[in-house]
Amino acid sequence: MKFIGKHGLPVFVIGNPVEHTFSPKIHNSAFEAAGLPHRYFALEVLEGELGYFVDWLSELEAPGANVTLPHKRSICSAIETKTSEVQRLGAANTIFRRRGELRLANTDVYGFRRLVEPWLELAREEGVLVLGAGGAARACLLALEQEDCESVCLWNRTTEKAEALAREFSSLSPEVIGQSKLESGSFDAKLVVNATSVGLDEGDPSLVSHDAVSPGMVGVDLIYNRRTRFLETFDRAGCDSRGGLDMLVYQAAKSWELWTEQEAPVEAMFEAARANL
Ligand code: ATR
Repeated sequence: MKFIGKHGLPVFVIGNPVEHTFSPKIHNSAFEAAGLPHRYFALEVLEGELGYFVDWLSELEAPGANVTLPHKRSICSAIETKTSEVQRLGAANTIFRRRGELRLANTDVYGFRRLVEPWLELAREEGVLVLGAGGAARACLLALEQEDCESVCLWNRTTEKAEALAREFSSLSPEVIGQSKLESGSFDAKLVVNATSVGLDEGDPSLVSHDAVSPGMVGVDLIYNRRTRFLETFDRAGCDSRGGLDMLVYQAAKSWELWTEQEAPVEAMFEAARANL
């Protein structure tokens, strides 16, 4: 099979649902800014169609794809060659091509590192609290491990999942804290990261209460589509806070660089992301 057309090569995001993704806007702006003729498409792929998609992609001379829910884990059984991050997390968000072969990467880890870059020193010296124990929290923990942040607390609504994650990241020896410590602010951390899905919907509460926030703390929320109540809690206490836009854009930029093997036009990607939020 060979893709013919004046629009260059196709790049996809596969998932279900994929209608509301910002990714086509961000990546198409980047292709345009870099003067590349590629186009990025959202493709709804059902669970049973994943193998078929991978076969098709590998035949097509396309640079790769993004992978989103529900395929981030199952794609790992469909493609053999993986970066060490994918091997560690068992989840990927990017398919890219090297020497004709499809490979898997997880660029969320890099995106998170860029998001918390301004506070890495704070995290190393004063500790980090991660809220959540799902895929996003796992990517955060791997990034914190890479950045030698060794003082990590973990909270999750379902404590057993936080404990399982703490065992998996034993190099960080995360301290799992319960609801009462979260509420009273009795945790050893100045950087607090919301890696749960709480805040995605308008009206969602903040998992951290005003009483738990003290001066010098910083709140980072992976959610990027709204100013969440979690962030407002930090704002009201006069603390720094940051939503997840940098993570969204930098994970996209890293995927883009894997496909094109050139530096991503990050400013154009930020502009597209901001314009579509
Ligand atoms: P993702 O891949 O985005 O991390 P996920 O794996 O489904 O998504 O994880 C969602 C996270 O949000 C989990 O930590 C979940 O907590 P549980 O493990 O207890 O389910 C958390 N979460 C979802 N709804 C929540 C709520 N109402 N209150 C607190 N935490 C919630």
